[in-house]
Amino acid sequence: MKTAGEVVLITGAGGGIGQALAREAKARGAKALVLSDLAGPGLEAIAAETGGLALAGDLRDAGFITRLVADAEERAGPIGILCCNAGTAAGWVEAGVITSPDDALWSLAWEVNVLSHVRLSRAVLPGMIARGRGHLLQTISAAGLLTAPGAATYSATKHAALGLAESIAIAHGGDGIGVTALCPQGVDTAMLADVKDEATRADGVMSAAEVARLGFDGVEAGQFLVTPHQRVRRYMAKKASDYEAWITAMQGYTARNRG
Ligand SMILES: NC(=O)c1ccc[n+]([C@@H]2O[C@H](COP(=O)([O-])OP(=O)(O)OC[C@H]3O[C@@H](n4cnc5c(N)ncnc54)[C@H](O)[C@@H]3O)[C@@H](O)[C@H]2O)c1
Repeated sequence: MKTAGEVVLITGAGGGIGQALAREAKARGAKALVLSDLAGPGLEAIAAETGGLALAGDLRDAGFITRLVADAEERAGPIGILCCNAGTAAGWVEAGVITSPDDALWSLAWEVNVLSHVRLSRAVLPGMIARGRGHLLQTISAAGLLTAPGAATYSATKHAALGLAESIAIAHGGDGIGVTALCPQGVDTAMLADVKDEATRADGVMSAAEVARLGFDGVEAGQFLVTPHQRVRRYMAKKASDYEAWITAMQGYTARNRG
């Protein structure tokens, strides 16, 4: 789907990849940008820079998501491209998150990385289906394809987000709905700076601008999977061809990095 002339709604728009998606959509001639994030200077700055409509709120609040989509469509017009981009790395660096009895980090990761995609998708899809056109650009992660060592909450929720993206593509491709799953490894943003795990940087760190460009290339080409770091395709092929060997290799990596 071409970006030019479309209303584009972007979540996590105050952060690194979200800001870059906003700039990219504007450069490609989007008719209007609706930019959402937690209230803060990042959102204000990108709205001022791009002329986008800023609608701040917390995606863990289902009522906010309903209002966000309704306000966006009332003020900017029907949404053509939805970018579910907000995410959290909550739990990434918590040793013992797998065995901890506390659900808090799991709940946070689930609500932001998965449930917000569910709620946003179901708010925009009926209109898109009625119009016979629309595209979802879901910022997921290579961790949704491959599992990042030491990142159980992140990897599990990103796998779930990928399963949802696949489900929407399969169920609604025939209704004129396209889906693009953007699955980078390390990207130079605040989130990566917070994750002090060298594995996230091992295959190189890309700029948010480059990742956003590749994401919108995927939207415009009608491509489902976008892997900005090309090595991810090789790792996927290895995993698919010998799952047992892949688990063994990841165990070896973990043992070596335990020190
Ligand atoms: N940076 C990386 O290395 C990397 C790699 C792969 C995937 N990703 C994914 O890219 C997306 C964007 O992340 P980023 O790297 O730009 O990091 P970032 O931290 O700069 O941006 C994430 C944004 O999501 C917003 N957000 C978090 N929780 C929210 C909530 N409850 N309600 C509303 N907004 C909320 C944050 O405020 C922030 O602006 C995320 O989904 C992330 O998982 C990042």
